[in-house]
Amino acid sequence: MADFLIGAATAAHQVEGNNIHSDYWIMEHVKHSDFTEPSGPACDHYNRYEEDIRLLAEAGCNAYRFSIEWARIEPEEGRFDEAEIAHYRKVLDCCRSSGITPIVTLMHFSSPAWLISRGGWGTAKVAPLFARYARYVAEQLGDGLEYICTINEANMGIQLHKVIEDMMKAGKRQEGGVQVGQNNGLDIKSIALGMLEQGKAFRVNPLKINSFLKPRDEKTERFVMQAHEAARQEIKAVLPDAKVGLTLSLFDYQPTEQGKNNAARLWHEDYGWYLPYIKNDDFLGVQNYSRKIVDENGVREPAEGAPLTQMGYEDYPAGIGHVLRRVARSFPGELIVTENGIGTDNDARRCEFIREAFAGVMAAKDAGVPVTGYLHWSLLDNFEWQAGFAKTFGLIAVDRSTMERRPKESLRVLGSLRGA
Ligand code: BGC
Repeated sequence: MADFLIGAATAAHQVEGNNIHSDYWIMEHVKHSDFTEPSGPACDHYNRYEEDIRLLAEAGCNAYRFSIEWARIEPEEGRFDEAEIAHYRKVLDCCRSSGITPIVTLMHFSSPAWLISRGGWGTAKVAPLFARYARYVAEQLGDGLEYICTINEANMGIQLHKVIEDMMKAGKRQEGGVQVGQNNGLDIKSIALGMLEQGKAFRVNPLKINSFLKPRDEKTERFVMQAHEAARQEIKAVLPDAKVGLTLSLFDYQPTEQGKNNAARLWHEDYGWYLPYIKNDDFLGVQNYSRKIVDENGVREPAEGAPLTQMGYEDYPAGIGHVLRRVARSFPGELIVTENGIGTDNDARRCEFIREAFAGVMAAKDAGVPVTGYLHWSLLDNFEWQAGFAKTFGLIAVDRSTMERRPKESLRVLGSLRGA
């Protein structure tokens, strides 16, 4: 257990604050924005990372997953900002001097605004651009990078695509259909106006605003995989010993007797389709938040009375153990739980969730699954994308009027797992 990584995860845009060169900054600030609120100063983690890492270490944790913001490193195409690299070097140094292993993500949903003007994640141009940024980070941060996730939840575009399909079939939007925070309260007119405004701001056709969290089909998904492979190659050329992988959002699909074909198809779309592109990676970041029961008609709504999280999907901590076992049947490398968590304002429930989820992870490990870490989402109550700050996944509460931190009992519970 001494080497097992236990800690928490964050993403730059959700916690750092003032990510002004990013696509999200534009999308949050157009008049008819589809965000419930802008990220603004977020949790001011950019200035308070030392305190946040100290709290994590004091609780007994030994790992921290965070992301480097591409829009800070390369705010204009081809112009790399050394001062921002120096910032992330300090974050890495802080981790190390606190006994914390850093796990770095190069792209956690937000991209530089200029990338969207160049076609974003919807064109083949993204691969060399992303690889150049990845190489720059690898060269500048050097052997400070031990574990590198190129892309967070590379399969999210496909999942969003499925949600839109389901919505069209059902004639309504399904709460909790996708894992990431969405704003479901918008009318069609303001969606259309918002798209026009974004098109103007990015100087692209409003139907071609390819930020990362947009529905994608298989063709455009290949561009994402090309970006991953190109980045992996560049990183490995500079840092042959760094471990490189990506992360996937993986539901625990549980079929009824008649639902087996549908569940197999969904699992293939979320995971199997990616395998040829990731099988040479050093590790896979496994991210699970819930289960879905699948019958002959597709995914069922959660049963009447099933406990739900703030996100509208089922509170189901056993999911992560199941998904790890399933992935281990075909993925040849190391597995790390790079996210798992619960949106709730009931921290006692979060404590139980952590204990139950971790028991599932340990049982999988004991059964031979090569899992080497558990990173809980999230270190801080943060900006849940389109859903704003109302969803609380954090182990630490943040008073956003003063930015004061209040560690919750769940942080202590997480840290105590190392001695378990
Ligand atoms: C994402 C996070 C998000 C979390 C909770 C994951 O999909 O990687 O950015 O905040 O789920 O919804």
